[in-house]
Amino acid sequence: MHVEWEFCLMSGFCDRSELSGPVCAWISHLQGSFFKGASSGIGASTALLFSKLGAALALTGRNAANLEKIGQKCEAVSGKKPLLLTGDLTDDEDTKRIFKGAIDGHSGKLDILVNNAGIIALGGIQKATLEQYDRLMATNVRSMFHLTQLAVPYLIESKGNIVNVSSINGLRAFAGVLTYSISKHAIDAFTRCVALDLADKQVRVNCVNPGVTHTELHRRAGLNDKEYDAYLKRARFTHALGRHGQPEEVADCIAFLVSNQASFITGACIPVDGGRHALCPSSLSREEGGVSAMSQAVED
Ligand SMILES: NC(=O)c1ccc[n+]([C@@H]2O[C@H](COP(=O)([O-])OP(=O)(O)OC[C@H]3O[C@@H](n4cnc5c(N)ncnc54)[C@H](OP(=O)(O)O)[C@@H]3O)[C@@H](O)[C@H]2O)c1
Repeated sequence: MHVEWEFCLMSGFCDRSELSGPVCAWISHLQGSFFKGASSGIGASTALLFSKLGAALALTGRNAANLEKIGQKCEAVSGKKPLLLTGDLTDDEDTKRIFKGAIDGHSGKLDILVNNAGIIALGGIQKATLEQYDRLMATNVRSMFHLTQLAVPYLIESKGNIVNVSSINGLRAFAGVLTYSISKHAIDAFTRCVALDLADKQVRVNCVNPGVTHTELHRRAGLNDKEYDAYLKRARFTHALGRHGQPEEVADCIAFLVSNQASFITGACIPVDGGRHALCPSSLSREEGGVSAMSQAVED
């Protein structure tokens, strides 16, 4: 019964005024959250949810207009405007400036780091280039390494925690998205190793591994609307629940992982993928997306 009660509360996210008991501790635990890559998609949904839960936020992204838009939405639900820090996380100086801005803006205190920024690119071993490899690793992995290193002293101080946004591509192999998959496998390894590095400091480190989620990620990588539509439709076969996911569903899991309700979880890579990770490869034909749904969605 107790477990059911907690679960309902987590997935439903009732209004703040309805919350009591342990969940109040969870809300106060959100103060000083810092999101990376919050100007669209999963980051934006997570920022909005954290705002609803009363978190003080610092949000980053390269696109100032998008960032401002999500900042206004957060302010509308919480009355508190997040700190908005524009910059490119593949640029070391930008990363240091962004981090300093976030820390200075929250009186030197940090409870939560959500490493969400990421890009995807198409191509297997015959098509992917070294330039693509460097770009994907710099954005998805190196920036996470850098920002986490900067954040660790503050997270140790607060006994805070980190959630990294990985992918089902970190847990499983897919053809046609090699550099992305390498980067997400690296994030899963990074998550587990850093979790062990910081365990004696009581800092928890976890990641979420989303399946196909409706955001701008794939169109930014070059899929046109028709191709993206076909890719989303194929989720009917590629995901056990028979559909793609929504960014809010990933945000719910992130909010759970940063909460005190997840106090005994560290080093975990949690699939938020409609059961995609559990599917037996032989249960999917090539046409249904059993090899690489994204590369198959693209017309030659
Ligand atoms: N959508 C999916 O199906 C899916 C599935 C599994 C995992 N994921 C992961 O979820 C995370 C979020 O992606 P999304 O789907 O929400 O896509 P999205 O809408 O394209 O969001 C990506 C975010 O990353 C930021 N970003 C990218 N490069 C950056 C850089 N160099 N410096 C700073 N910020 C940067 C973007 O902001 P700016 O453009 O403003 O810089 C944006 O806020 C990614 O790590 C992605 O790999 C997504």
